[in-house]
Amino acid sequence: MTNQLAFITAAEAAAFISDGETIGFSGFTPAGAAKAVPLALAERATELHARGKPFRIGVITGASTGRSLDGALAKADAIAFRTPYQSDPDLRKSINAGRTRFFDMHLSTVAQAIRYGFLGKVHWAIIEACDVTADGEIVLTSSVGVAPTICRVADRIIVELNRRHPAALRGFHDVYEPADPPHRREVPIYKPSDRIGAATIKVDPKRIIGIVETNLDDETNAFDEPNEVTCKIGDNVADFLAREMRAKRIPKCFLPVQSGVGNIANAVLGAMSSHSGIPPFEMYTEVIQDSVIELIRLGKVKFASGVSLTVSNAVLQSIYQDIESFRSKLLLRPQEIANNPEIVRRLGLISINTAIEVDIFGNINSTHVMGKQMMNGIGGSGDFTRNAYLSIFTCPSTAKGGKISTIVPFVSHLDHSEHSVSAVITENGIADLRGKSPHERARVIVDNCAHPDYRDELHGYFDQVKDGQTPQTLAGAFAMHQQLLKTGSMRGVDWERFFAEA
Ligand code: COA
Repeated sequence: MTNQLAFITAAEAAAFISDGETIGFSGFTPAGAAKAVPLALAERATELHARGKPFRIGVITGASTGRSLDGALAKADAIAFRTPYQSDPDLRKSINAGRTRFFDMHLSTVAQAIRYGFLGKVHWAIIEACDVTADGEIVLTSSVGVAPTICRVADRIIVELNRRHPAALRGFHDVYEPADPPHRREVPIYKPSDRIGAATIKVDPKRIIGIVETNLDDETNAFDEPNEVTCKIGDNVADFLAREMRAKRIPKCFLPVQSGVGNIANAVLGAMSSHSGIPPFEMYTEVIQDSVIELIRLGKVKFASGVSLTVSNAVLQSIYQDIESFRSKLLLRPQEIANNPEIVRRLGLISINTAIEVDIFGNINSTHVMGKQMMNGIGGSGDFTRNAYLSIFTCPSTAKGGKISTIVPFVSHLDHSEHSVSAVITENGIADLRGKSPHERARVIVDNCAHPDYRDELHGYFDQVKDGQTPQTLAGAFAMHQQLLKTGSMRGVDWERFFAEA
């Protein structure tokens, strides 16, 4: 790094940005997300709003980010448009109140949507780096996301040079952008550890208008300790996969695993690690979380390819202290490649994601509460689910202290259709949906996965419908949701009334 590149403060960087512009920020989850400049932008927005002046921007990132980006900007009412994913409570409020226009999209498609011009002009790229050279080489930090694409297409670039990440991270990233149609070729990844691109992002240094030096931790959230329900879900997933191995439907060497993020994903990986019927495996996933690092240390995970190292700061620093031994075990890729449907199908991934609600036919709602309120977004779940060798959805069988059954007659919002889902697994058991008709699916999902308190109620819905390919009754499809709105619980639906009206 030389002094030909200008160092500026975060406030000076924020002052370059105008109302109505679109900014592409680095970050995939809080890992690698820009922090200092968005915080300064939020301050600038608050100050301008106090003077009656408008200041709202468009925000494009890899996925969710941290409190200093989505949180601070949403609190300052400074996000007019947001894509592709978020998980911040203040931003969620702004979206559901109609203040922020949110475009929910498959994460594998974000970079190409930017390149195709579907998301409009990107005025700025604000990128966190652990190193930047005078000839325009940028070494990213704990994630890749869509940073390579936004650096290429944005008019101008600001780099947050975060000293908390060592320059020795060079070599952990595999930066590759496919050509656009009709010139696109196959992406040459044949195993999770294949490296196909460059270690850095290369830009014309004249486009870097300033470097903001920081020394900040990633704003990752701590996970809850596994509880009885998440442990049972984890055990059921591990048992299902071990059974698939015994049946020789999963080869002896196992298959690469994609696992979602959160408490259930942590419990699932823990259970897979201790199950004697599951051999050491590789991960071709999106988010690498604490449990994966632990499994690498234990030798249960042989290699992990992902988009981000979304780990606690203690775990991240422990990786950095031992960086040479992780160099051959970890690789960070753009989400366009990590979530790429072509590769997911080719490698034969086992995908494990979490649902908000599942209907008795195997349709999945990953995003909306009561069909209306956005939770986070579809994220990468669709990229993996639609193309996996085995696509598993997990969830606890109830939510909100048992007042809500997560197994319902019909999902209130559809993200993944029944055609893409191989198995549904709750703490109560496993519903293997492969090769089953909707009548058979309804029975196995309710009998094996629904909470015992809701099984009779769910049977009351579909048992009486004998005709049709799918035992559906339009008048009753949302009766349990309506019961919740009316009484505060999904229990006690009067099916006779609904069927009389049908
Ligand atoms: N109805 C109403 N609320 C529900 C619900 C339902 N059927 N199911 C869950 N909830 C609520 C929970 O009570 C909880 O509320 P709280 O925050 O007030 O406590 C909240 O939703 C989150 O549920 P939780 O059980 O903590 O789930 P999670 O953190 O594992 O997240 C998803 C679950 C589905 C929201 C999350 O996995 C997600 O965003 N998925 C989509 C993207 C994805 O799959 N990414 C990975 C792909 S690589």
